[in-house]
Amino acid sequence: MAKILGGITTSHIPAVGNAIQKELYDDPYWKPFFDGYPKVHQWIKDTKPDYVINIYNDHGLGFFLDRMPTFAIGAAHEYRNEDEGWGLPSLDPFPGAPELSWHIIESMVSDEFDITSCQELAVDHGFVVPMQLFWPGAPNNPDMPRAVPISANTVQHPIPTLKRALDFGKALGKALRSFPEDAKIVILGTGGLSHQLDGERAGFINKEFDQYCLENIVSNPEELTKITRMELVEKAGAQGTEFLMWMMMRGALGDNVTEITRNYHIPISNTAAGTLLLECAA
Ligand code: DHB
Ligand code: FE
Repeated sequence: MAKILGGITTSHIPAVGNAIQKELYDDPYWKPFFDGYPKVHQWIKDTKPDYVINIYNDHGLGFFLDRMPTFAIGAAHEYRNEDEGWGLPSLDPFPGAPELSWHIIESMVSDEFDITSCQELAVDHGFVVPMQLFWPGAPNNPDMPRAVPISANTVQHPIPTLKRALDFGKALGKALRSFPEDAKIVILGTGGLSHQLDGERAGFINKEFDQYCLENIVSNPEELTKITRMELVEKAGAQGTEFLMWMMMRGALGDNVTEITRNYHIPISNTAAGTLLLECAA
């Protein structure tokens, strides 16, 4: 049976893709952000995941306002990346793992989660930037595992509740552990932490709330389900709702996790950048 190695969170800010392209790792603006990654790289090197579940929120490339799935799971052989207007070069397609995708979809629908299954899906910066951060050179890094993208709606209200996101993660964890292959799986939760890109509060960041979320996502994620969606928008910013991806990731890990590394840096572009690596008990 498959095993979940752990979960990793990261912000997915498009400007990071630009900084990677320009190799700004030691630039004074970027260094405190990129310093959060070497420990994660070492862990990935040591644990060698066979599959990556990339939980991200599409920003209007794969889905638009006319058709907005609450939860979508990729079931394709590959996922193409396209220009979404951030001026980033489009990357080569990312290899998928349809056999694992369909296993997850079967299991989750049996557990009464209504999934949109996607046999074709273009992936945006929410998916791609984290892959580049964790597997430098992606998708042309030979160690990069095949991927299953999972997207949740944070674009058009109503968005899922924090409880639903955590419950989704729990059902995902059950699905992954029942995959009949002796495989090692890592789960990404991308996006966040606090940020708002538009309106009167553009540039809004809430360090205190971010620290509260960081503390509780490790040891007491249930506590975070008390936060209403309205409160989440209020306290984390309109785009800080991307924290739902962290909740989905966390639910899949189970109760027994060890924090391996954490980094928090403000701001990168308009966002509070949070990186967290949680390892599951053996
Ligand atoms: C930024 C952050 C995001 O999460 C995003 O999707 C796009 C831009 C930013 O801070 O620039
Ligand atoms: Fe985003």
